[in-house]
Amino acid sequence: MANNIKYFIGNWKMFGIPKSISILDKINKFVKSDKKFNKKYKIVITPPYTLIQSYAKFFSNNKISIGAQNCYHKDNFGANTGAISSLMTKSVGAQYIIIGHSDNRSEGDTDAMLKSKVENSLNNKLKVVFCIGENKEHKLGKKTFEVLEKQIKNVLEEKFNFKDIIIAYEPIWSIGTGQIPEADDLLKTTIFIKKVLRNIFKKKSSSAVLYGGSVDGKNISQFKKLNEIDGFLIGGASKSDKNFIDIIKNYYK
Ligand code: 13P
Repeated sequence: MANNIKYFIGNWKMFGIPKSISILDKINKFVKSDKKFNKKYKIVITPPYTLIQSYAKFFSNNKISIGAQNCYHKDNFGANTGAISSLMTKSVGAQYIIIGHSDNRSEGDTDAMLKSKVENSLNNKLKVVFCIGENKEHKLGKKTFEVLEKQIKNVLEEKFNFKDIIIAYEPIWSIGTGQIPEADDLLKTTIFIKKVLRNIFKKKSSSAVLYGGSVDGKNISQFKKLNEIDGFLIGGASKSDKNFIDIIKNYYK
């Protein structure tokens, strides 16, 4: 079953300075004025750590929520130069946090580290956007389901509240490449992920499952019919108000 809310989450990665807030301002004006935009849609932007506080303050009464892109695997404070804990992101206004992006997995995030990041973030009342995805080799070797199941089972546990977790399925081969999965494959994969989640959490309904990888204003129309998909994690196209607004508009057009 699909969830009622459709998420549009913009992951800015290493992009943005204070004046980039004008991008969010335009997105915010659009969603406030557009009659078709309603409670069914949720927009989250994850700017770099440096901008969370000012952006979260600016949008505190608006329809855009702010999130963090990552956190250190230990919580609270510590003698860890350059590290930022989930508590610290929450304290400056983050409401969501991305954990397990393939960028970070490829730079050394292990399952044990990811588990601790997820647990700490949930304890700090952040909603976790947990990223999973296979690489090209896995896909060609027909290992996608096996890889995804492992990535989920090695980190998520029954004791976590499934409603505070959002899964972002991002095939690594689709990130920044312009390639997107075949609709039928994506539907099967989404249904499979939801089954794994229902088994872990022992619930009848599943956490929300998003798709991420080369989503843009044009190809978004291909995802519309896949009602099982509960939204999108958007990289490149979230750095432009026009492209991001096009995605939303063309989704519910
Ligand atoms: P692109 O939308 O640029 O492919 O990036 C996807 C992504 O990695 C979002 O987290």
